[in-house]
Amino acid sequence: MLTSDCLGINEKGHLTIGGVDTVYLAEKYGTPLYVMSEDKIRNIAKSYLESIRKNYSGYGVPIYASKAFCCKEICRIIDSEGLDMDAVSKGEIYTAIKAGVNPKKLHFHGNNKTYDELFYAVENDVGDIIADSFEDINRVDEIGGKLNKKVNLTLRIKPGIDAHTHEFIRTGQIDSKFGFALENGEAEKAAEMAFKAENISFKGVHCHIGSQIFDVEPFVLASKVMLSFIKQVKDEYGIEIENLNLGGGFGIKYLDSDPFLEYEVYMESVSKAVHEECKRLSLKIPNIYIEPGRSIIGEAGITLYTVGSVKEIENVRNYISVDGGMGDNPRYALYQAEYTCVIANKMNENPEYTATIAGKYCESGDLIQENVKIVKPVAGDILSVLSTGAYNYSMASNYNRNPRPACVMIKDGTDRVIIKRETFEDLIKNDI
Ligand SMILES: Cc1ncc(COP(=O)(O)O)c(C=O)c1O
Repeated sequence: MLTSDCLGINEKGHLTIGGVDTVYLAEKYGTPLYVMSEDKIRNIAKSYLESIRKNYSGYGVPIYASKAFCCKEICRIIDSEGLDMDAVSKGEIYTAIKAGVNPKKLHFHGNNKTYDELFYAVENDVGDIIADSFEDINRVDEIGGKLNKKVNLTLRIKPGIDAHTHEFIRTGQIDSKFGFALENGEAEKAAEMAFKAENISFKGVHCHIGSQIFDVEPFVLASKVMLSFIKQVKDEYGIEIENLNLGGGFGIKYLDSDPFLEYEVYMESVSKAVHEECKRLSLKIPNIYIEPGRSIIGEAGITLYTVGSVKEIENVRNYISVDGGMGDNPRYALYQAEYTCVIANKMNENPEYTATIAGKYCESGDLIQENVKIVKPVAGDILSVLSTGAYNYSMASNYNRNPRPACVMIKDGTDRVIIKRETFEDLIKNDI
């Protein structure tokens, strides 16, 4: 029932995270509340770094996809573990820089970066810019010229792989707003432009085939497709691309029934394919980058809510309403993302009640989960949604003018606030 090894049940029958009682946390900080385990984040970050060392002799680095959860303290933690960071907006770059991250460790993505964002990135010497369109290449070249800098550029390629995941989060196929397609010659044309651009240093190619993927095979296939593109470019221009970024997308446990993906199995399988393919194509092993977001942060987080009402509609369904919802976690409303929900103060009781967990927002679609088995709660009980570390806080909104919740970090059995709860004054601070 528990989706992460940072969770447990204590002698009071309460859910714990990092050894700390979640009912105590709900009382101390109020709800809704995001809670994260720092040890869990650090352990996974370390294992990715170790894996790059082992499988590629350290030639490469894991890049944390900060869109999963971007705030100053998460940036500091990731940075202190030696990982790079990917950013998809000026706001994410700004946050990382303000947290003290060296901009050279930042990789700037996005299918429609504005001129202002690109200028800011180049001005601040980010590690590389991952071009997603011909316009990106032209703008980077122009900005490089203006600032008298040679800008490191990587091309985002669509390797055309269907990773069998939810359609809305599948990005590797040709019908995607992200990247250059191989099938229609776009990728080749982009490579030519990048080589010819005066103010660009064409460093690498990138792909990202989707999210919440458990199969290893699509990743292996993607690495082969990307290496054959590197070979094609080498044959045409006589230059071997140095960096290969294979993206993120590794699945995590949201439900008991989700498989447990050993990231090391993925890393070893891809490494084997990369080594064999480079040998076959007479290529040097490129520096290998991976971009996990969800798998670093997702299982490290939970959300705590207070149950407000239980509504039983005979022959229809039972609704449990909580004091948060789509404003702090829009993922069910967006694409029916699955979660495990538990009653944190009744962990030793049997989850025999079937209910839909609803939020407090004025939308019928404001649901957190439908028809799940849970312990029957009463008003005032603490409901926890597990594995909410990724794409929850980062996707939160102020819909209905609800302040965004606080986030508490647990480390060595102690709790500290890393993001304060928004105040009502925060809500109106930009209103004229
Ligand atoms: C380019 C890129 N890299 C990395 C990621 C991170 O994916 P995940 O959080 O599933 O690991 C994403 C997610 O959308 C992405 O678009």
